[in-house]
Amino acid sequence: MSRPILLGPEDLEALLRRIGEEIARDHPQGVVLIGVLKGALLFLADLARAIPDVPVEIDFIAISRFAPNSGRVRITQDVQIDIAGRDVVIVEDIVDTGLTLSYLSTQLAARHPRRLDVCALLDRESRRIVPEQVRYRGVVLEDGFVLGYGLHYRDLYRNLPFVAVGDLDEVRERPDVYVSELYGASATWRSGRDGGR
Ligand code: IMP
Ligand code: MG
Repeated sequence: MSRPILLGPEDLEALLRRIGEEIARDHPQGVVLIGVLKGALLFLADLARAIPDVPVEIDFIAISRFAPNSGRVRITQDVQIDIAGRDVVIVEDIVDTGLTLSYLSTQLAARHPRRLDVCALLDRESRRIVPEQVRYRGVVLEDGFVLGYGLHYRDLYRNLPFVAVGDLDEVRERPDVYVSELYGASATWRSGRDGGR
């Protein structure tokens, strides 16, 4: 069985261009992008390059959960840039329950940015427990577990150049269950791009 691809490189390119232009338009004086590690790393790297004609600064924040499946989180690596008075955009891979985002927004808002917005590649808004708004979003996801382009299971699959739909029960049972299939697909796409070299 082959895994359905939710967002391929061309879909990603199109949504990056759209969001990049929206962010540039809303923040003509420049913006500080704060990527939530590690999931947002690939998305942020591409997004930063897709924001035309305004100054962009990049920083990161890392959090960890107090306990598996608990919504409670703490900051394990903090932002270095002083965001007081600045236009800030939190960059996330996916917003699900909104618990992570709600915690981060509260923490960062306390530092008095001029504006604080959220950008997420994927928004699974039907799962929201706390009403967090995602101003810039790639696509709305109804349900299903996804992997690739930053999204992982046990740190695998993050480096895939696309977002694929997975089955959480399958990867829980065997985390590397899609390795040959998805990394194989990745190699095919790369060689297609290089003209078959
Ligand atoms: P929440 O909004 O606090 O529930 O958590 C969102 C975080 O859970 C994301 O930043 C991801 O790291 C992780 N996550 C949620 N759904 C998925 C998925 O489908 N695949 C991989 N990671 C996910
Ligand atoms: Mg995340």
